Amino acid sequence: MAWMWKRKSLIATCLIVAVSLFVVVVKHSENPYFLLPPVFGQALSSHKPHLGYISISKDPASQKPLKLHCDLCSIVSSSGQMLGQSAGPQIDRSPCIWRMNNAPTRGFEHDVGHRTTLRVVSHTSVPLLLQKPQYFFGQGNDTIYVVWGPLRNMRKDGKGIVYNMLRQAVENYPHARIYITTEERMNYCDTVFKKETGKDRIQSGSYLSTGWFTLILAMDMCKEIHIYGMINDTYCKTEGYRKVPYHYYEAGSRDECAEYTLHESAPYGGHRFITEKSVFAKWAKTHAFKFFNPPWQLSSSPPSVKEQLNVYTDRKHVS
Ligand SMILES: *[C@@H]1O[C@H](CO)[C@@H](O)[C@H](O)[C@H]1NC(C)=O
Ligand SMILES: *[C@@H]1O[C@H](CO)[C@@H](O)[C@H](O)[C@H]1NC(C)=O
Repeated sequence: MAWMWKRKSLIATCLIVAVSLFVVVVKHSENPYFLLPPVFGQALSSHKPHLGYISISKDPASQKPLKLHCDLCSIVSSSGQMLGQSAGPQIDRSPCIWRMNNAPTRGFEHDVGHRTTLRVVSHTSVPLLLQKPQYFFGQGNDTIYVVWGPLRNMRKDGKGIVYNMLRQAVENYPHARIYITTEERMNYCDTVFKKETGKDRIQSGSYLSTGWFTLILAMDMCKEIHIYGMINDTYCKTEGYRKVPYHYYEAGSRDECAEYTLHESAPYGGHRFITEKSVFAKWAKTHAFKFFNPPWQLSSSPPSVKEQLNVYTDRKHVS
């Protein structure tokens, strides 16, 4: 009898141990932080991963959210305003340097700097990157690419034409660090536009610009943001403004203000660059933004980092 009882208790103990182990494993798998590999032994970093941006990799199981944080990000605009200002050395001193789309550094280093930490890329610019895949994705290039685009181009079921191109790029360049903006994050960026302008982005017939996606991402990742070569919302109405090409790397193209005005009034398919700039000026009141070449006169000084972090969370509670 004693032997029977001993055996029962042994089975019971084993069961309890097995169930507890199971609970522990399930609990940890639900926690996204547990799934992230420790980065140089900093598993408990205070900086959260950015769940709205997911890596593309050959193996779907190893897709990871973007993890990057920077004390100071310099965002280099693609505007012709960059030309002739010799901002390169100042940009190069910044720990993180962000660029947009396929804006080149080669040949423009003195004005735009050398390094590129991260590039925010429109789905429409992906084919341009793929024209020089070795330059953008080749070995030795540790630039992070964050691609945004509508679901029809970014879907993962084989019908997303841009997603398919990026998948192929990762096959060919396994070290390439390419992330795509999730559908939820795309919708969030639309929601922010509606909240700030009162206009529905789709109904107003416009597309958000790469600059819009860039600043939303930067507010999440960067403590301080320096923006180079971006004009403000009244620039094109200012007496004697500087006429520059729309892109610094497209000499002879339509001038920046003509392009902006055209887009602002396009009934559909345009970017609301000027409206977006007025929103950026508003954000600059609550975030540590600084604008260079041309400088912006901002009415209030930027608040402390702690105040900044509360802006979006507070807003969520209000609405
Ligand atoms: C990587 O590509 C970027 C373009 O995104 C270029 O500016 C940079 O110089 C390249 N870096 C290296 C190490 O090849
Ligand atoms: C906007 O830009 C123009 C031209 O550079 C400048 O005169 C004006 O002061 C700027 N306004 C603000 C609010 O920065």
